[in-house]
Amino acid sequence: MTSAEAKTRIQQLTDQINHHNDLYYNKSKTEISDFEFDQLLEELIKLESEHPALRLADSPTQRVGGTITKEFASVIHQYPMLSLGNTYSAEELTDFDGRVAKGLDGDAYKYFCELKFDGVSISLIYENGLLTKAVTRGDGVRGDDVTTNIKTIRSLPLRIKANDVPTRFEVRGEVFLPKEVFKQLNKDREDIGEETYANARNTASGTVKMQDSTEVAKRKLDCYLYYLLGEENEVETHSEAINKLERWGFKVSPTYKKCNTIQEVLDYIHTWEKKRHELPLETDGVVIKVNSLEQQERLGFTAKSPRWAIAYKYKAESISTELKGITYQVGRTGAVTPVAELEPVFLAGTTVKRASLHNANEISRLDLHLGDYVFVEKGGEIIPKVTGVDLAKRKSSVKKVTYITRCPECDTELIRKEGEANHYCPNEKGCPPQIKGKVEHFIQRKAMDIDSLGEQTIRQLFELGLVKTPADLYDLTKENLLKLDKVKEKSAQNMLDGIAASKAQPFESVLFGIGIRYVGKTVAEKLAKHFKTMDNLRQASYEALLEAPEVGEKIAQSVVEYFKDADAMREVERLGKAGLQFESNQKEPELVSSVLGDKSFVISGVFQNYERDQLKDVIVAHGGKVLSSISGKLDYLLAGDNMGPAKREKAEKLGVKIISESEFEGMIKG
Ligand code: IVH
Repeated sequence: MTSAEAKTRIQQLTDQINHHNDLYYNKSKTEISDFEFDQLLEELIKLESEHPALRLADSPTQRVGGTITKEFASVIHQYPMLSLGNTYSAEELTDFDGRVAKGLDGDAYKYFCELKFDGVSISLIYENGLLTKAVTRGDGVRGDDVTTNIKTIRSLPLRIKANDVPTRFEVRGEVFLPKEVFKQLNKDREDIGEETYANARNTASGTVKMQDSTEVAKRKLDCYLYYLLGEENEVETHSEAINKLERWGFKVSPTYKKCNTIQEVLDYIHTWEKKRHELPLETDGVVIKVNSLEQQERLGFTAKSPRWAIAYKYKAESISTELKGITYQVGRTGAVTPVAELEPVFLAGTTVKRASLHNANEISRLDLHLGDYVFVEKGGEIIPKVTGVDLAKRKSSVKKVTYITRCPECDTELIRKEGEANHYCPNEKGCPPQIKGKVEHFIQRKAMDIDSLGEQTIRQLFELGLVKTPADLYDLTKENLLKLDKVKEKSAQNMLDGIAASKAQPFESVLFGIGIRYVGKTVAEKLAKHFKTMDNLRQASYEALLEAPEVGEKIAQSVVEYFKDADAMREVERLGKAGLQFESNQKEPELVSSVLGDKSFVISGVFQNYERDQLKDVIVAHGGKVLSSISGKLDYLLAGDNMGPAKREKAEKLGVKIISESEFEGMIKG
């Protein structure tokens, strides 16, 4: 393909993919299958890696991340990012309305109501239609440049194609993690033995500031926009601005309403008080804005907030109910979680029967007694939370809750590691929920994907003594399965077929499925790609593991410990004998050129345009080799930012040529 052809094709692919992205994430529509979409994206990634200079500013490949930021640059806001005054009652709101009326000298005015989204505020700058900067609120005057992270948000247009786009404008909104995404994120973390996040807002805030934008891309942040600023917007009211944002392809929550009177505002507040719980994100109030921009200007600002807008905050819904008892759940990793069993009550859209108590510290902090009336609240936490005890209702006969010392499932003495809040049941190989949990983890979709087996089947197979470890699944016979409740010939065959088909699942799925602590799906993929076979991984030293992408000390330690365990080794051997994939079939990147003509590279440091992994692929794709240590035979040390001085010294001493990222790009452009 000539450079001119590549340019045309890159343009076409960029437009097409951006169009499908917008359809899917903003309009919930699809015109092509996921497979077709992935193919387009893959083609674009490949073309861009061959012609890095032709990548367009609105390239959708930025959505997958690939940039590491060690320190975010500080940016001064053109218009300070102020906060809003808060009100908690109809009276306070009426006072606000009075101040607005007075400030406008009796002129008529209207309001525009929106929900108050509970996320992280962001300011976006567009120049000539392109998203050029995304800045956090910071202290209101100066924030952090988080552009590369924000560009991973799929619903956000990277380029605006409309004929009335000003040369420069700013738009503000709220970045959030949808409730469902947050729930799944916590489920995944629990699954690999990581502590769960407390609430969606803080997690969104942490995500926006992550150093690795590839990680940000995986978190599936979303963003609602609600404020257009700039000198050339040609709108007279806030509602026109909102319509404009919608037309330009921004995601605007459809929950807004124009209100003619403060009574209509109160009705809006009332309507959304309950209904807001059905929305895909957390909201904590309503924002009321004077609709006319000219009137907004007349009303102006105090030092801290606009006089033309105010937030009405819903009270965190709290209800008191009886604490019937405490149960203790044991997870796959042995972590014990205390759960409050409550007299069922209706709260914020659902009936609440149970609430997490997190750990023993929380129980002591609350000074819980059985039979207490406890306050239950639903904040940004999704799972309701016990916030306190209604002491006025405490009876004298109540008994203080004492934390269990033995596992409720297998009676083993619990342990609590220094510095950890959770108790653990150490009986990893004999504790039923831990055993069943491991098999359930193994059959899940991201692992061996055996959907003909479910939680109930696993439970029965365990109770009948037929399955104690994942490898036992591959020894099951039809006779075994016919012993299960309601299982007839056909479903037994189905299960066997599902088990047999799982043998084709790729190595990375097997690696995730065997359940090494802290090895989630992404890490399993990286390990599979780096070590290629189970044998290589098994033999890898702690130091060798640390060289693999995304592997830090905690994971390296965990992998080493896993393979030191004789039972785990036996299990892995049985799985191998059963015919599971123990070798990576991730294909080597196709040879794009041979300009690097067998030259060898060591990669060190952090790069502007590539993740380290990608860089390896590019080198191989152009006929080069990647080595892990510097020796006299090495041709090039490819040095990024923050490379250690020792490496540079060694390379210099051995006469190895040190090249920069841009020099390297020059080499592959030929
Ligand atoms: S308008 C000059 N509208 O609430 C004020 N803010 O307490 C412009 N927020 O920093 C803000 N939903 O992060 C506005 N519909 C909405 C909002 C909203 C949430 C946040 C925003 C702001 C904070 C103010």
